[in-house]
Amino acid sequence: MIKYLKKENKSIGLIPTMGNLHDGHISLVMLAKKYVDVIIVSIFINPIQFENKLDFQKYPITLKKDYQKLKDCKVDIIFSPHIEEMYPNIEKNKIFIEIPKLSNILEGHFRPGHFQGVSIIICKLFNIIQPNFAFFGEKDYQQLLIIKSIVQELNYMIKIVSAPTVRLKNGLALSSRNNYLNSEEIKIAPYLYKIIQKTSEKIIQEKNQNTQNIINKSKIELINKGFRIDIFNIYNANTLQNISKKNKKVIILASVWLGTTRLIDNKKFFL
Ligand code: PAF
Repeated sequence: MIKYLKKENKSIGLIPTMGNLHDGHISLVMLAKKYVDVIIVSIFINPIQFENKLDFQKYPITLKKDYQKLKDCKVDIIFSPHIEEMYPNIEKNKIFIEIPKLSNILEGHFRPGHFQGVSIIICKLFNIIQPNFAFFGEKDYQQLLIIKSIVQELNYMIKIVSAPTVRLKNGLALSSRNNYLNSEEIKIAPYLYKIIQKTSEKIIQEKNQNTQNIINKSKIELINKGFRIDIFNIYNANTLQNISKKNKKVIILASVWLGTTRLIDNKKFFL
């Protein structure tokens, strides 16, 4: 099929997913329509990116619903391989792909092996599907930077296109993990983005003079709302290193827990 599409000179767009599709994924499909002739959505719950076996086992499988959603928005091809097809030698784990400055910091520190797992599956998908474009959401910002680096370092002829995070009206970023929140937690969850937004506004207002104080106050506010914090800080948006006075493009990255659910979100802005 891929050979045929290439022979016909059709441009191919890939949207990698783990299924359990929501409007964030659909926004990527809509974006892809502006770029390519043929849209391929992959659905594969990638076992090697889960540092926790239980997290993998409880990941929601909603294939029937996913297929219907993709059919409704006229996706051309769905690629949903079996684990054995993607990893014939999964126990041996023969290959290791890592971007040293990005894979083990922040989310990578709290989820050891996660970005190595993402990197391997993304390379496998790129090699099998050979897309001209691949589309990713900006909610997983560190993942996006890692994939851009892989494309550059391994000379993939693929353009990475990112799309803004899709949110509910109350600000909560769409995520498959929102399904795990109970009725109390779902009321608290929107405060994450509200607090991120407020923090960014204050930092801009105070012209980056009092930044760590502002961040610390926001952390206390998050804790008082019931979040447990893994990451809440401001970084250089290109490197994810700490910011200096010279930084222009910055990002607040948040990774927090509500009960047993891990939520991530971010906001990029200019100083
Ligand atoms: O963001 C995701 O859903 C996954 O990490 C991805 C990119 C599909 C790789 O498994």
